[in-house]
This record gives sequence, C-alpha cells and structure tokens, in this order.
Amino acid sequence: MINLIQKDKLPHHVAIIMDGNGRWAKEQNKDRLYGHQHGVASVKDIVEGCAEIGIKYLTLYAFSTENWNRPQDEINGLMELLVSTIRSEIEQLNENNIRFDMIGDIKSLPTICIKELGEAKEITAKNTGMTLVLALSYSAKWELIEATKQIAEKVQSGELKSDDINDDIIKQHLSTHHIPDPELMIRTSGEHRISNFLLYQLAYAELYFTSTHWPDFRKENLYEALLNYQNRERRFGKISEQLNPA
Ligand code: FPP
Repeated sequence: MINLIQKDKLPHHVAIIMDGNGRWAKEQNKDRLYGHQHGVASVKDIVEGCAEIGIKYLTLYAFSTENWNRPQDEINGLMELLVSTIRSEIEQLNENNIRFDMIGDIKSLPTICIKELGEAKEITAKNTGMTLVLALSYSAKWELIEATKQIAEKVQSGELKSDDINDDIIKQHLSTHHIPDPELMIRTSGEHRISNFLLYQLAYAELYFTSTHWPDFRKENLYEALLNYQNRERRFGKISEQLNPA
C-alpha cells in the first residue's frame, strides 16, 4: 500500500488521538495497563512509519488534562511507562535524527517525568528530521485559556493593542507556535470526537476515524489513513472549480 502514497502530497503534520488501549485490554480479559503497554509498540511503529515516509511533524495525544481523573494506579502506571519508554527509545530517536518535543501543562507532571522529558528534548534539539511532539497534561481549552491570559496581560501593559489581535497573534501564544497546523488528525477506536485536542489548530484539518484500537494500529493502518487523506479535496471554503480551473 505504501507504493500508492504520493510523496509530494503528504501532510506536513499528522496528529493522533491514540484511543482504545483500555477496550483492547478488556477484550483480552487483561487490566488497562496491559493495553497501555501494548500501545507503546504502536507508538514505536507509527513514529518509525511517519519518519520513514517523510512526515515532518507527528503529535501524539498521550495524556489529557481530563486523564488526571482516572484511578491513581492507572495514572502512576502511565507516568512510569512514559519515563521507561523515553529512556529506552531516546537513543534510537536520536540516531534517526528525530527531534523530541512536548506540549501541555508539563509542570503538572511528576518531577521524574519533567526531568526525563527535558533531557530528551535537549539531547535531540539539533536534529533536523521529523519532530515528535507528545501532548501531555494537555487540553485545548487549557491552552486557549493560557494564551488568552498572556494576550490580555500584553494589552494591559500596552505591549499590544486589542485591535491588533488576529489569527497570527493567537497562534504565537499557543503551545504549538513553532509548529505548522496538522493537515490530518487520526483517531483510533471508533469514537468520532476531538476530545479537547488542538481545537484551534485543527480548524482545517482532515479528520480520519478508524475502529482499530490503538494497540493494533500499525504502519499499514497509517498508510490507509494517508491514502484516504490524499483522495480528499481540501477546499478551505472555496468551491471545487476554483481549485481545479478547466
Ligand atoms: C487511550 O486509551 C490512551 C491513553 C489515555 C494513553 C496513551 C498512552 C500510550 C499509548 C502509552 C504511553 C505513551 C507513550 C508516548 C510512551 P484509553 O485508555 O482511553 O482506552 P479506552 O477508551 O478503550 O478506555
């Protein structure tokens, strides 16, 4: 299937809501952490697949602001999994010229996670291949509230006039200010929701939903999503004839 993908029509940025670890585990009579552990194998495969094919930015929704409401055991397990995965994978990411980054309320994470994430970011900072962004303790509403506060402070101090607030100014104050908007958002496991993920940045993204649970999602599923994306017409509010003049 990879041969059908047009390399010159790839999205620059793919964002993924990795959903269904819990349901996948339940189907096998295992606990939820077992699902998350298997989800890591999918993370590795998809990071590799995206980098190989030439995607420039990959953002993975790994832990939402709302996920803090889960049972404490599951939260602890996820945080441990995050630390152990970064530790075991950072060398490979570096060898593959992948830059590591994160968005979200990082200071709300356990100290050990903050340390590990900071080191991974520093070690890979000069890499020029794909950028892998983990969204952690992230929600779009949190991000938009933070951006609004920062802009309001600048207006109050006179650094900015309220009349000057536009799309660019808002983008500059989002945690993704250094990253282009995703053209494709994939959500696994059958739910048709955005769940507080990159609400501003996804304004014109193509949304792709698949019933495959995240622990079963592999490169072939990614290629299917990319092909589906390439067969869509992105009109940005225009009509088809304006995009394809006779
Ligand atoms: C959603 O499944 C998944 C998560 C909330 C966590 C995602 C985490 C991983 C894939 C593993 C760790 C990640 C990294 C980057 C090391 P769910 O628990 O909401 O599934 P459910 O909806 O079926 O219950």
